[in-house]
Amino acid sequence: MSQLPQLEAYQQRVNNFLSEKLKQLPCNDPKLLEAMNYGLLIGGKRMRPYLAYTTGAMVGADLNDIDGVAAALECIHAYSLLHDDLPAMDDDDLRRGKPTCHKAFDEATAILAGDSLQTLAFDILSNHTFSASLQNKRILLVQQLVTASGYQGMCGGQALDLAATNQSISLEALQSLHSLKTGALLEASVLMAAECSTNVTSEQKVALKKFAQLVGLAYQVRDDIIDITSSEEELGKPAGSDVAANKSTYPALLGLQGAQQKADDLYHEALQALSTLPYNTQCLADFATFIVKRTS
Ligand code: IPE
Ligand code: IPE
Ligand code: MG
Ligand code: MG
Ligand code: MG
Repeated sequence: MSQLPQLEAYQQRVNNFLSEKLKQLPCNDPKLLEAMNYGLLIGGKRMRPYLAYTTGAMVGADLNDIDGVAAALECIHAYSLLHDDLPAMDDDDLRRGKPTCHKAFDEATAILAGDSLQTLAFDILSNHTFSASLQNKRILLVQQLVTASGYQGMCGGQALDLAATNQSISLEALQSLHSLKTGALLEASVLMAAECSTNVTSEQKVALKKFAQLVGLAYQVRDDIIDITSSEEELGKPAGSDVAANKSTYPALLGLQGAQQKADDLYHEALQALSTLPYNTQCLADFATFIVKRTS
């Protein structure tokens, strides 16, 4: 698999920021705090922070500003995974190579750790020391994260995912489900980072949004594929989980080859969306390549 430039540096950067944040929290409930640490800091590719840092660097944003955005995005993502694995949702036992949070702790603790990580995201965004030029952007950043993560974004998509289980749905319905449950947060990773620069025009934001929507959808298409083609060891989560649960996925609707064709089509469209931008977009092209080829 192609390696992403700066991947380790950005992973390290957001991990340091997040672990500092957790260290600063008072230890009111040691078990809950331990579960938050477990869900947030152990493993994970940090793709949303990566996308935020790499987009931010491309548009000339200050990476100290991106720290707040990247950390908030990862908190929402980690919370979504804790809840996604619960018996009431996908009922999975393994995540990031370890027992899922509700297995390592208990269900109530996993729910509360997810809730606490969600609010920590907004704590970070509302208290982060942004550059003076971004002070009037704080509310906009909060709004973008709300839209991407709540009813109009990830949560809404997760509800559609559950409703589509054991059902046959149209490709169009599957596309909007995937765009919401996974695409929305990846889209926000690009757009919130772009907001951290004062140089990005609204036309450029439209092109970045298009790129991010295509790549965000491709991310979940590839996730559906590797659920079938990769091993549990590679994934760090159960393989074949979607088939076992009779989920609506791209391979279920189009077959494996059709699903990879869809990922490749999205990839080419995403590259086209980059072509109008006056930046060196190689980093975003590399990200798109990485996600449609990834095996974990
Ligand atoms: C898994 O996300 C769930 C999806 C939204 C597809 P990732 O593939 O980013 O998982 P981690 O964070 O690396 O564990
Ligand atoms: C999850 O999709 C998307 C989320 C919002 C968490 P999946 O259910 O396919 O994610 P994995 O395969 O369990 O990581
Ligand atoms: Mg799920
Ligand atoms: Mg799942
Ligand atoms: Mg999956």
